[in-house]
Amino acid sequence: RKRVAVLISGRGSNMNSLISAAMHPDYPAEIALVLANKPDAGGLAKAEEMGIPTAVVDHRDYKGDREAFERAVDEILRTAKIEIVALAGFMRLLTPFLVNAWKDRMLNIHPALLPSFKGLATHERALDEGVKIHGATVHFVSAEMDDGPIIAQGAVPVLDDDTPATLAARVLSVEHQIYPKALALVASGKARLRDQRVATGAADASQADAR
Ligand code: GAR
Repeated sequence: RKRVAVLISGRGSNMNSLISAAMHPDYPAEIALVLANKPDAGGLAKAEEMGIPTAVVDHRDYKGDREAFERAVDEILRTAKIEIVALAGFMRLLTPFLVNAWKDRMLNIHPALLPSFKGLATHERALDEGVKIHGATVHFVSAEMDDGPIIAQGAVPVLDDDTPATLAARVLSVEHQIYPKALALVASGKARLRDQRVATGAADASQADAR
């Protein structure tokens, strides 16, 4: 079982879905650490309740020196013998230092069907654009924000009376399905990088129209 760290900034519902999946004995990864950049991240308490070791590296202690912050994070990851990093609502832009240190071993989940709607407020923008299908993406992290080889996606319909909140909730339930699947594909070696694309050999890596 690969040792995985989940990095969070907030409530940690995706973290929760990864911890739950990893409780099954045949899951190919264990969640060995939850690390937050905010001491008050709600997910920390949940992780502790579930018996997962936690760590905090408060980015405010580094006064805008992003690389010094990332060196402190990297040190903790290495000390904990982490093999794969899963960003789950980790709201820090990364520098090339951390991206390169964990190249092909760092995953992120983004609440949109990339390459559409990179960045923040994805659900508001999807509604503004009138798209009829929206969703979530798990991808390897590359130097650009919300960019990198796609491992799994899940799609949901956009309904006429959706608000950003109702759409976010529908997407979030898909996030909770695809992130454990994507992590399992990576941890078991089934997600293989070919040039800049990921081959998984798994027909169910995408989860169309999941509700
Ligand atoms: C999730 O919707 C995740 O996709 C999003 O933040 C939320 C975190 O929720 N991530 C981003 O927007 C990354 N730019 P959670 O803490 O309950 O998992």
